[in-house]
Amino acid sequence: MSKQFLLLALMICVSSSYGQDHLLQNVYNRTTISLNGDWKYIVDPYENGYYNYRYEPFDQQPTPWASAFFLNSKPKDASDLLEYDFDKMDNLKVPGDWNTQKESLYYYEGTVWYKQSFDFDFSAEGNRLFVYFEAANYQAEVYLNGSKLGTHTGGFTPFNFEVTDIVKAQDNFLIVKIDNKRLKDGVPTLNTDWWNYGGITRDVKLVETAATFVADYFIQLDPQDTKKIKGYVQVNSKDTGAQKLQLKLPGLGIDQQLTSDQDGYAAVDLSVEDIRYWSLDDPFLYDVAIETAQETVKDQIGFRSIRTEGTQIMLNDQPVYLKGISIHEESPLRDGRGYSKEDATQLLEWAKELGCNYVRLAHYPHNEHMVRLADQMGILVWEENPVYWTISWDNESTYQNAETQLSELIARDKNRASVIIWSMANETPNVPARNVFLNKLAAYARAKDNTRLISAALEQKNYQGDPTIRTIDDPFAEVVDILSFNQYIGWYDGLPEKCKTITWKIEEDKPVLISEFGAGAKQGLHGSKEERWTEEFQENLYVETLQMIDKIDKIQGFSPWILVDFRSPRRVLPEIQDGWNRKGLISEEGEKKKAFFILQAFYNNK
Ligand code: GCU
Repeated sequence: MSKQFLLLALMICVSSSYGQDHLLQNVYNRTTISLNGDWKYIVDPYENGYYNYRYEPFDQQPTPWASAFFLNSKPKDASDLLEYDFDKMDNLKVPGDWNTQKESLYYYEGTVWYKQSFDFDFSAEGNRLFVYFEAANYQAEVYLNGSKLGTHTGGFTPFNFEVTDIVKAQDNFLIVKIDNKRLKDGVPTLNTDWWNYGGITRDVKLVETAATFVADYFIQLDPQDTKKIKGYVQVNSKDTGAQKLQLKLPGLGIDQQLTSDQDGYAAVDLSVEDIRYWSLDDPFLYDVAIETAQETVKDQIGFRSIRTEGTQIMLNDQPVYLKGISIHEESPLRDGRGYSKEDATQLLEWAKELGCNYVRLAHYPHNEHMVRLADQMGILVWEENPVYWTISWDNESTYQNAETQLSELIARDKNRASVIIWSMANETPNVPARNVFLNKLAAYARAKDNTRLISAALEQKNYQGDPTIRTIDDPFAEVVDILSFNQYIGWYDGLPEKCKTITWKIEEDKPVLISEFGAGAKQGLHGSKEERWTEEFQENLYVETLQMIDKIDKIQGFSPWILVDFRSPRRVLPEIQDGWNRKGLISEEGEKKKAFFILQAFYNNK
């Protein structure tokens, strides 16, 4: 990524998420103070704590009334009128969604206010402090000690604000307004096939840095030359002028001094003979340390090349077949939105048990544990921006929102070897405004990261009107590096035996992935393979589909829908769905269905 592009990204980032600072890199490995735990909360469906009765936002008024919740006001005396008190309220756990914590909030979509109090002492003179949110769904307004820090839009990516000049030694109050209302012009938009979990759904941390600190870096193998490590380090410093840095990769005998330019940008360009490349069989991660005069940041980075060659996907210049599964970010260990390392470990261990070397994280960025563990476990990853079904293609702020969420995803995971594909969208209509929208997003992603492949989950259709021949007829197929599509022959389209009657005509000279196929089954429900919702029906769908897939040339892998049953408000069939999409190979109780073993056998023989 060129320096000009980095500065442009910085400007775009600041413009669309008010007040938000450049995303801190690798907070995952920094020493931080957790603000997780019990937070006080107020449910505010009328946003009475945010707007005055003229529906004007309090936080945009020169002297907001004490009734503004972000002020955390207390009655001055016994006669004072105040109609809220955070400290007398109940608690919600952070991280976590509110839907599965409080029965009364199970279907709730709207505003909930959170408050956390903390004391803080700087560990050194001149140090700086940031508050870092790993994610909060959907719109977050953040305040500290009565000052507005900023706003963040999008439920699945991190954001941070500097609070160096606002924080006090004692009794700091951090107040966050979370609104998960679905919006027509939102990303995603009004309808999805997953539960709209609301809340501060991932960790919240205080990040103390030195005055001059490592704000960002991108250190990856040069896609043009696999004997080169290229990228940059971005320092953030109050001092202007060039900064001296040390980049250390002891495993490669590298101890390189870098000098940044006036803006703190230092290019990285290292020729390295013997690199132990990160691979599925040997997911080797190098220790990396970046030192400024005042601090050291440590990371573990794997170096691998990923590219396409005709219809093949080449990992370290070797063809790779992607034996995958799609996953939603729900906890397999407790109810609700997943966020913990244990959640990620269970999901990825099930994928490994299935025989997978690849996972599609759908339809939005999952928590960072997933990609950090995939790096360690040697699992390849597809990550996706929540541009899902039919969003407002011709709305510029919707585009900016989608681009910002994508930029935050790439910013967070650009140093992860396991991540090989950025997906721009899922099942979007082939209309002109969408094509413009997705083309811009893909161009943005390529400019931001030239080391990975671009794709999207497209839709298949009849070839020249012949329903027995299927194809991809979508202009965006020209833009992607990997051609991926969802198909539900045998579930939404006929019965499983129909797979025998279908052939595929895919004209692009590109690798082809099937990003989704599947069938619903209630775990433990048994019967004939003709009976929908039985495990036998789902099993048969897999048998038929795998035979069909094996005949599609250019196919380089697939990720069936889906590893585990997941919550969806669209799935209301009594005694079968009851609010769950049942296409999982594993039930929400963790019980495997028959189809799990069909796919496992296929992968183990592949
Ligand atoms: C779609 C969609 C998924 C959905 C699935 C289904 O293809 O991409 O989000 O859950 O089909 O219908 O089960």
